[in-house]
Amino acid sequence: MSFKKRLVKSLTGLVFSAVVSGHALAAGPAQFNDKGELLLPQDYREWVMVGTQVTPNELNDGNAPFTEIRTVYVDPESYAHWKKTGEFRDGTMTVKELISVGDRKGPGSGNGYFMGDYIGLEASVKDAKRFASEPGNWAFYIFYVPGSPLVSAAKNLPTAECAACHEANAKTDLVFTQFYPVLRAAKETGASGVIAPK
Ligand code: HEC
Repeated sequence: MSFKKRLVKSLTGLVFSAVVSGHALAAGPAQFNDKGELLLPQDYREWVMVGTQVTPNELNDGNAPFTEIRTVYVDPESYAHWKKTGEFRDGTMTVKELISVGDRKGPGSGNGYFMGDYIGLEASVKDAKRFASEPGNWAFYIFYVPGSPLVSAAKNLPTAECAACHEANAKTDLVFTQFYPVLRAAKETGASGVIAPK
């Protein structure tokens, strides 16, 4: 083989392996440190808020298993992918904030459960390569619980602690889409808001 051919061949090999390894790494916002811990995403409040749940202590003998109000976000590019395909792409990341119930008296809006303080922060990441052996390739993380400081990097939690309930109860690919009207409305529509009836 001539030098030129060899050069072309090795360059092609380089480009090929770059493309292959580029594909192997999931797209998406998740970043990890050398220990494989997920870094606290800084901008998730600019992501898409897909749903909010309330399980007040008052309706749970003073101690709801999940305190008390939760707000769930999905990263914008994965949301765009969901809108087109109805699937969570490799690299999808979700963040869930936990918020206490604050006021119960509304300013003319009626009594209810109004958001108090932020008291928890959790996340999940789907990555086929990194989490090949996890159910649905999802990994789950806690950044903050009441009584402990917020951590800037979190460990992948054991499957039994988090993924098992998601696998058993969540409607779509371990994600609780049954509770996220924004995702349900947008699924495979390609549209960003409410679609007007024809
Ligand atoms: C007993 C069932 C159960 C267990 C165990 C559980 N979850 Fe969830 N998770 C839910 C439900 C229900 C939702 C829907 C939102 C809500 O009500 O909080 C949810 C939503 C989430 C979401 C938002 C995206 C999604 O998948 O819907 C994240 C992130 C999350 N949980 C993280 C965790 C982490 C981290 C753990 C382990 C410490 C965990 N979950 C354990 C039931 C569970």
